[in-house]
Amino acid sequence: MYAAMGALGLAPSDQSKDYVAPKPGDFTLRGKGAAKVVIIGAGVAGLTAAYELNKAGYDCTLLEARQKAGGRNLTLRGGDRLGELNGPAQEVTFGEGVYFNAGPARIAPWMVTLDYCRELGIPIETFVNDNASAYVHTNGRTMRARTARADMYGYVAELLAKATNDGALDKAITKDDQERLLDFLRRFGDLGPRLEYEGSSRRGFTKFPSIDGGVLLDPPGALHQILAAGTGRAITNNFGVDQATPMFQPVGGMDAIVDRLVEAVGEDSITTGAKVTKITTLDDGVEVVWNGGSVKADYCIAALPPHVLARIPHNLGAQVTTALKTPVPVAAGKIGLEYGRRWWELEDHIYGGVTETDLDITHIWYPSHDYHAERGVLVGYYNADRDAELYGALTPEDRRRRALTQGKKIHGEKYRQNVLSSVSIAWERQEHIQGGWVRWPSVDSSFTLLQRPAGRVYFAGDWLTHLIAWQAGAMESARGVVTLLHQRELQSQ
Ligand code: ALA
Repeated sequence: MYAAMGALGLAPSDQSKDYVAPKPGDFTLRGKGAAKVVIIGAGVAGLTAAYELNKAGYDCTLLEARQKAGGRNLTLRGGDRLGELNGPAQEVTFGEGVYFNAGPARIAPWMVTLDYCRELGIPIETFVNDNASAYVHTNGRTMRARTARADMYGYVAELLAKATNDGALDKAITKDDQERLLDFLRRFGDLGPRLEYEGSSRRGFTKFPSIDGGVLLDPPGALHQILAAGTGRAITNNFGVDQATPMFQPVGGMDAIVDRLVEAVGEDSITTGAKVTKITTLDDGVEVVWNGGSVKADYCIAALPPHVLARIPHNLGAQVTTALKTPVPVAAGKIGLEYGRRWWELEDHIYGGVTETDLDITHIWYPSHDYHAERGVLVGYYNADRDAELYGALTPEDRRRRALTQGKKIHGEKYRQNVLSSVSIAWERQEHIQGGWVRWPSVDSSFTLLQRPAGRVYFAGDWLTHLIAWQAGAMESARGVVTLLHQRELQSQ
């Protein structure tokens, strides 16, 4: 009946909405009081778990090792101080109203993250992930994304159209389908009457049309030159379901999600600076020891990175330790460059979006908010793995210098002018986090083992889902654990 209601639009029907939050009535009906849950880690997974359990009146205590809740959901503003393991702290000196999402910064519309924004009353706005006016910089050449796409699509379409016309596909598809394919390829590549790609207005203009027809860019290079430009990764970066346009962001900073969750669960239930030193599962509960004391509860949810959790003494068994050590932390870094002039809007006509590069900065992001304001923050690099390790090993000053030198290759000297301030993060050097995200060598028995509780200890985080490096992963994982824990508690009578 529920499915039928879904089909009629009377009940949500897609998978992520199948979750049913615990509610106080679940207990009253069975005459049972709510249990006590200690949650280690007040990042997005831990906060979501507390928020959901609170709906049924569970008594949740959150222990957070950092000085602030939120984990990797970190928005930096003027007046903030960013510490770093084995590195100097950075003072953030951005102007008023300026912010930089140092962790998560974009949300796909199908992700549960947006459902939480709605539920928590967080206004959202479009995050421009794909911008034809942004640049592609590969093999030392810079061009607009629209030009790179037009040329690759154009030549690919021409080649396939010619192969079709020459009969190369006769065995694969019928004549009728060949006609249909040709019709599509003409549109896909903007081919001429002889199925040739000879350039297209899609490539862009040196002077855009107005009362006259404008001035087109010079014609494209030959196929060989287009292939040699190596734009493949850069122009397909947002083809996946998690990166496809439109994407979204909370107005005013990603940490609105943290702020609203903290407000909802109650600041009093979170202890910051609480470093857990021992986890013990018992027959009738759990005991968690931290630097300020110990907590006894009915259940524990360990919502911290697996490589950090693996170092905490526990009695959950050797298999659990081995499983926790299986996912490999991945370095990830970002720099926020604050400019006193939004030259990318004024001169390049880039309003949000991403320039993709094959340089060690990987991407440059332009802000998708506060257009036409006086100041703005560009993300001057957002990289992972070896590139991130390279930047992370530099001093903040050298990170900035290197990022500016790289960005100048795309934007010219103005990239190094008018920089008011900057702040960079190396997630592998953030205390109690030590990684941007993790990579599982394979999704194996360790992954499934940790999706189940070890005694009375449950594990939660994006790292236990197929949405790694997404807040949605943390939230879905928290919901999964809440569901399991609540069912168990209801049956424990
Ligand atoms: N979720 C991360 C991103 O959007 C990986 O870049």
